[in-house]
Amino acid sequence: MPKPTYITTPIYYVNDRPHIGHCYTTSLADCLARFHRLSRGQKHDVFFLTGTDEHADKVVTSAAAHGMSPIEWADRNAAEFERAFAFCGLEYDDFIRTTQPRHKTKVLEYIRELQKRGDIYLGNYEGWWDASQEEYLTDTAAKDADFKSPVTGVALVKRIEKNYFFKLSAYQDRLKAYIDANPNFILPVSRRNEVLGRLRENLQDIPISRGVTDDPTSQWGIRMPEDPTHRIYVWIDALFNYLTVVDTPERIHLWPADVHLMAKDILWFHAVIWPCLLMALDRPAPKTIFAHSYWVREGRKMSKSLGNFVTIEVLEAYINKYSLDAVRWYMLTQGPHDKNDADFSHQRFVEIYNADLANGIGNCASRVGNMIDKYLGGVLPEGVKEATTPGVKPLSAATSDAVATAIRALETCDIYSALTAGTQIVHEVDQFINLTAPFKLAKTIEANPAAKLELADILYTCAESIRIASYLLSPALTTKMPALWAAWGCAPAQGVPLEMAAAFGGEYALKPGAKVGKGEILFMRADAAEPAPA
Ligand code: MSP
Repeated sequence: MPKPTYITTPIYYVNDRPHIGHCYTTSLADCLARFHRLSRGQKHDVFFLTGTDEHADKVVTSAAAHGMSPIEWADRNAAEFERAFAFCGLEYDDFIRTTQPRHKTKVLEYIRELQKRGDIYLGNYEGWWDASQEEYLTDTAAKDADFKSPVTGVALVKRIEKNYFFKLSAYQDRLKAYIDANPNFILPVSRRNEVLGRLRENLQDIPISRGVTDDPTSQWGIRMPEDPTHRIYVWIDALFNYLTVVDTPERIHLWPADVHLMAKDILWFHAVIWPCLLMALDRPAPKTIFAHSYWVREGRKMSKSLGNFVTIEVLEAYINKYSLDAVRWYMLTQGPHDKNDADFSHQRFVEIYNADLANGIGNCASRVGNMIDKYLGGVLPEGVKEATTPGVKPLSAATSDAVATAIRALETCDIYSALTAGTQIVHEVDQFINLTAPFKLAKTIEANPAAKLELADILYTCAESIRIASYLLSPALTTKMPALWAAWGCAPAQGVPLEMAAAFGGEYALKPGAKVGKGEILFMRADAAEPAPA
């Protein structure tokens, strides 16, 4: 039995409310999880984890600013994340909070284990502290960034601390060898090259603790084992979440993680520090670290100071107006999945909505459903078989190519190519309808009964291709494709791998006698002149 696919998102800081960035990464993970389930045919073949990172100093300061205790503030915001994810239709298998005992106990075990193995020592650390990112920068990095946070612009502060260190430097060669041997370890390729470039310099050991003082912020977090004057650095605590959740007798078979998804901001922690911690613990490293780029808004970085976040309220307004599937589709196909940032633009949203959904799969399915209803009484007759047209690739071949493309794309987490393999089928069906003109043929049926058979073959070929397209689109269009399946009685068979379920004319195909209903309109056309929903 192959190992279930284990997919994770970053665990998000609870000092703030969720916005499109968090929903985007979690939607990518959700879509990838659904694609893998579809591809493998079994629900339990995939495990999808998300959650919240709660021991950051800024949780304490935000909580205080709101007159709450850190845990009250964390409870409130963790619930906000869960609510936002539910609204975005995200179905994860577990939600980890780093304040949960199941996590804290395991983190202590790992730190003890590292100490036992001689990978942790007490030393002095001098560096530039970026309070906004909870992160130290080296002298060079601080200078390059003009002594400001490269992410938020907040001024860096020079700090000297007594800290426990992890011997990161000892793992440089093993890490480099692992990256070289696994071309899909860091994706996309541009990010892999970035990390390899930085690895040409020697890795320094890293502090993994912070001193505990009288300051309330420093009281928050997990204490170092046997040394209550130190607490574990929030990033080390957080990275362990991927392992703590599955490090139980029932779940350990899930390890190593197949895909850790995130944005470029936290790639270094995941692609360098995390695998080295695992190597030190003698645990297998994750298979893929996938780092996408950023959403920006109308060309500008989203930030608190600009107050231009695409908030969860904005997403909700779009979902209420255009449907959940429309928002998922826009994020998943137009998002910053590769090396470029992506702009959230209302005009683009409407364009894509109309092109891919209203005039794309929606129109194509309703056209074919209506013709089957009108010309064939809503039932595929006996003896239907594939129709082809000269000079054009048969739809049986086009659909099987599309399915193969989608399955291959999953290996590199290329959701965009996997989903557009589905829209490609829709384009080919549209083209086939234009070439074969079934509506014209229908007019000749009375005079020529053989034309009816030909017409039935054409419409069967279209419907069968749309069935296959709908499977490839379903990991994004999670409510509209099931609506189509209900009208056409063609939901993908449970427990059957995609390649078989989606074989044109195969065991699970639309069969003679199948009722292909008209169905509801899946996506109403959107008016580009209307303002963005508020
Ligand atoms: N808590 C750490 C992660 C620890 S993982 C062991 C953290 N949290 S965060 O709340 O700041 O979330 C960062 C992540 O949110 C990014 O890596 C990305 O997944 C998502 N995004 C936040 N803003 C984003 C954009 N503007 N665009 C796309 N995604 C971004 O870092």
